[in-house]
Amino acid sequence: KYQRTYFNVENAPMRWIKKDYVDHAPIWCSVDLRDGNQSLIIPMSLEEKLEFFKMLVKVGFKEIEVGFPAASETEYEFLRALIDQNLIPDDVTIQVLTQAREHIIRKTFDALKGAKKAIVHLYNSTSVAQREQVFKKSKEEIIQIAVDGAKLIKSIADETKGNYQFEYSPESFTQTEMDFAADICNAVIDVLKPTPENKVIINLPVTVQVSMPHVYANQIEYMCDHLHERENIIVSLHPHNDRGCGVADSEMGLLAGADRIEGTLFGNGERTGNVDIITLAMNMYSQGVEPNLDFTNIPEIIEVYERVTRMHVYERSPYSGELVFAAFSGSHQDAIAKGMKWREEKQLDTWTVPYLPVDPQDVGRQYDGGVIRINSQSGKGGIGYLLEQKYGYDTPKEMREDIGYLMKGISDHRHQELKSDEILEIFKQEYFNKT
Ligand code: KIV
Ligand code: ZN
Repeated sequence: KYQRTYFNVENAPMRWIKKDYVDHAPIWCSVDLRDGNQSLIIPMSLEEKLEFFKMLVKVGFKEIEVGFPAASETEYEFLRALIDQNLIPDDVTIQVLTQAREHIIRKTFDALKGAKKAIVHLYNSTSVAQREQVFKKSKEEIIQIAVDGAKLIKSIADETKGNYQFEYSPESFTQTEMDFAADICNAVIDVLKPTPENKVIINLPVTVQVSMPHVYANQIEYMCDHLHERENIIVSLHPHNDRGCGVADSEMGLLAGADRIEGTLFGNGERTGNVDIITLAMNMYSQGVEPNLDFTNIPEIIEVYERVTRMHVYERSPYSGELVFAAFSGSHQDAIAKGMKWREEKQLDTWTVPYLPVDPQDVGRQYDGGVIRINSQSGKGGIGYLLEQKYGYDTPKEMREDIGYLMKGISDHRHQELKSDEILEIFKQEYFNKT
């Protein structure tokens, strides 16, 4: 909707800039129903997963990882319900996760019977720590696990003539030696034989975040340069957020050449979560990139999310938290009030209001009650703006100071925020009853 004038990719001093990045969003894949769900205190019931799935479709996700069907009965039954009740829109591809183990792969394909199309997501762990401590296997043996898994999914897909796309994740990728990560991915690619019509997704997870975003970006760049048949490969990112850098990892990883991102709404997921797709999408939106996801009603999404996951959206969560567009302090209120007036007078089609990164209305937040909020920190500008915008009282300049001190004082004394109807009430009492 708004074109940002300051965003100029040519000026960004990074050697891994992908020149056409500003023109399009990546392919998004929601892993809410798998990674998000597996880390909840109480995982979602079948009905809750169905409601969440419908919401993800409404938001516009075209790829949705719906679960790990071999992991539990609910996961299996949920996938069956989606297929049997024909609940998957034609333009949406479901994705299912499977370990590279024969009985798990077979059960996964059982659960997929009758699916019009699906992404089969195969993984095994590749880091030094996992190889040495958990699997106690050599590099060659770890490659063999991946290759055997890839051969099996390919042969079942060929036998059943299903419409399947394949994804492979070297789990714990970022803690793996890069030459080994490339070797194992290439061994899998050679088995899966990608084509331009059926590309293979190579998903490179930050399973546990242990290094800085530029390190991940360099790892992604290395993989983009070393993968076989790069033109038939979709390079996917899957950042977790242990160091609080999930968004930075994703943005840097995209600039380094990736094509796709797996993440969740509000950053739900294992430990500190997966990357928050709302933040990523809205960051792009605010810089003139169409995210192809509809977050114009975040309060409605929060309602469903909090109910079915039993999680809470943090008040300061970027773009979605209840307080992220709120201004209590006088100087911020004054600047916002002036910015809004300026915008109105100049009829701007860009968003330039100070202290507000995007127009709150673009994510379904109202100015009224959501932006200028009054407490003891507030100033005359904000209170005057509120009285004028909401109630039509264009108070004289001399009077504004008076009203400001009055409202601040009452809020301070009560140790409470004053809602706009209380402000109107006090204003009327003080000025109309006196005259
Ligand atoms: O975080 C991770 O590594 C995963 C894999 C299964 C992709 O969730
Ligand atoms: Zn994960």
